[in-house]
Amino acid sequence: MVGIKLRQDLLEQLEKVRSLVRTHGNPLREVYLDLENSGLVFEEALAALHEAYRIHGNPSITHRPGWRALEVMLEAELGLMDLIGAGGGEVVFTHSGTEANNLAIMGLAKASRGRRKIIVSQIEHLSVKFPAERLQEHGFKLVEIPVDEEGFIDLDHLADQVDDNTLMVSIAAVNHEIGVVQDLRAIAEVVKDKSPEAIIHTDACDALGRIPLDLEHAGIDMASFSGHKIFAPKGVGALYVREDVKLEPILHGQLSSQRLWPGAENIPAIAGFTRALEIFGKNFDEYRSRMRRLRDMLIDGIFERVDDVVLNGPRGDRRAPDNVNMSFLYCEGEALTVELSLRGVYVSSGSACTSRTLEPSHVLLAIRRSYEVAHGSILMKVSPMHDEKDIEYVLEQMPEAVKRLRAISPKVVM
Ligand SMILES: Cc1ncc(COP(=O)(O)O)c(C=O)c1O
Repeated sequence: MVGIKLRQDLLEQLEKVRSLVRTHGNPLREVYLDLENSGLVFEEALAALHEAYRIHGNPSITHRPGWRALEVMLEAELGLMDLIGAGGGEVVFTHSGTEANNLAIMGLAKASRGRRKIIVSQIEHLSVKFPAERLQEHGFKLVEIPVDEEGFIDLDHLADQVDDNTLMVSIAAVNHEIGVVQDLRAIAEVVKDKSPEAIIHTDACDALGRIPLDLEHAGIDMASFSGHKIFAPKGVGALYVREDVKLEPILHGQLSSQRLWPGAENIPAIAGFTRALEIFGKNFDEYRSRMRRLRDMLIDGIFERVDDVVLNGPRGDRRAPDNVNMSFLYCEGEALTVELSLRGVYVSSGSACTSRTLEPSHVLLAIRRSYEVAHGSILMKVSPMHDEKDIEYVLEQMPEAVKRLRAISPKVVM
């Protein structure tokens, strides 16, 4: 019975989605800025993926195709370690950034023989926040460090909380929603000063390719990455683990070259990941200034053309070069997402990762935005694949879209 119902639900849902796609129409131009959720792929990374699909081997097997697969993994491991300034340690390839964050937090907790305190910031991605919350059911104490109105963590509060019971501190290098760039070195100094054995993990999914990373210099023990964030094919993530950090596997199975992540490695996506790393490595400075230029053109252009708008997160170099998060007062973010979609501009509302729940983003609430302002927020990310013409098109469409929605929504006091 349950099976039949489920199938009917699926069929109905499929029909609804098909009709949305069918009736959407074809806008004159399309600009995809929803890079928080999933995104563009470098053509070269896609070509590397295609090519690697012809490598049939499993990297844990001792025959020629197996060695070819292992070669792909080792190239990716070296490529990543070079780009992030890693010292001695290993890279574990997962299938997403979410898996890498879960492995870092759950795997460390499983291996812990004494320490019981986990410290995160109030604005972590849900793939850090949720596993950390979950560990409370297993006797761990969770502390969330507050942030200021731009999203910077309170270092004094952090120093007060770190003690000899602290197992780990996990703070994202770049926040996925408001783009705030934390000072990793200062965080690590505060933590290690209070407790040299506490492990520092950073969710660097939104930092890779956006800000210079030198993990060894910054004193970071573990860092997570996601392929689609650097325009590699989806289906690959990675966790860098310094050699002296002890983790236990959280999945169990057989046949893998990796002790900490069993199951068949996604060799084609890993090959694409290496190619994307190379591209970012070679063009880092150029890409960064291009993204920064497009980001500021978008932010300034919106402020010039639309009234009652708020920028969420800091400006300038303290903000990731790709991140634009703005709240449009008297507008509902989800409605604006749909209105913009009809005009060929694809963005996400509020917290991209929580927008399915329609709950206001915990990140925006943590930087003291009201519920109404949080609900009116739109998240957009620019990339090196965008150009000025794309941003001009968005700036043409945005004022009209906001005007239309404001005309049909009551103006409530925020
Ligand atoms: C900061 C951050 N961490 C983790 C993730 C999860 O990565 P993935 O989508 O590969 O699971 C994301 C994804 O959007 C992210 O922005």
